[in-house]
Amino acid sequence: MNSYGSFPGARPRRLRTTPAMRRMVAETRLHPADLILPAFVREGITEPVPIGAMPGVVQHTRDTLRKAAVEALEAGVSGIMLFGVPEDAKKDAAGTVGTDPDGILQVALRDVRAEVGDDLVIMSDLCLDEFTDHGHCGVLDADGRVDNDATLERYAEMAQVQADAGAHVVAPSGMMDGQVGVIRDALDTIGKEDVAILAYAVKYSSAFYGPFREAVGSSLQGDRKTYQQDPANLRESMRELALDLEEGADMVMVKPAGPYLDVLAKVADSVDVPVAAYQISGEYAMVEAAAEKGWIDRDKAILESLTGIRRAGAQMILTYWATEVAQKLGRGV
Ligand code: PBG
Repeated sequence: MNSYGSFPGARPRRLRTTPAMRRMVAETRLHPADLILPAFVREGITEPVPIGAMPGVVQHTRDTLRKAAVEALEAGVSGIMLFGVPEDAKKDAAGTVGTDPDGILQVALRDVRAEVGDDLVIMSDLCLDEFTDHGHCGVLDADGRVDNDATLERYAEMAQVQADAGAHVVAPSGMMDGQVGVIRDALDTIGKEDVAILAYAVKYSSAFYGPFREAVGSSLQGDRKTYQQDPANLRESMRELALDLEEGADMVMVKPAGPYLDVLAKVADSVDVPVAAYQISGEYAMVEAAAEKGWIDRDKAILESLTGIRRAGAQMILTYWATEVAQKLGRGV
């Protein structure tokens, strides 16, 4: 009671009085099964290599990748997204190792499938940038521009070798026009109708991918602005989304997550397929760096960032913290 009349007329604070009350009325909950772990595997190493700009994340050996997959599974994480890092000498203009059945990504897919079977959803990044010497997501034409349709031929072949190697889901991330349709056809042609496509439907050209370049050892020449989307646009995302669904996407993704929650909310409102969001390398690095300096509470910031992404409409979240967070959620933290 105060002496200034009838305000406040309502008291929303009543529902915030105790932790139990707040827990009861929480509208968004995180569950381990919401989480997908992105993981890097590097060819020709015997010990995991730490990624400087992503403290706590490593380039795995084949062996430690298998262990990471089991650890994720045991924590209740629902999927793993694999990225392959070939030996530098094997990179070329066409990204040939991306379609070599013995290329690192295919080898790792077979390893992980043998280790966890169907208990974890095994996903593979379907893109050429990890395998090309110029670092672009596609092949280049005579003028050095990324050639859309020639790249589609490479993606079709990639989809087939990845499916053959044991991927349950392929995730085209190169933003070429027509990629989802071509990949669907390529998979169906070899009898892989059951392999699903998680389309990076909405993928922006983002400065926050920076640490990923180190993670996959890519030295990108130029930028990706002719194929990834302009951060200024939202209507364009709706068009990309519609095209991917028409072409047969089973699930769609918005990437990055944190700076694009408005896009995520709009996408989630407009589709009837599962929606994923990718909390990317730069989002991870910012929290870790600020926490290391003692400027924010690391664990609280991680949970808050993931809760925000869930609240905005992502059913699944790809995050480098997947296993750690799933373990904590399992302990009721
Ligand atoms: C493309 C790809 C990228 C990421 C995932 N897939 C890099 C890019 O598009 O530039 C970024 C992931 C991250 O930053 O965590 N193969």
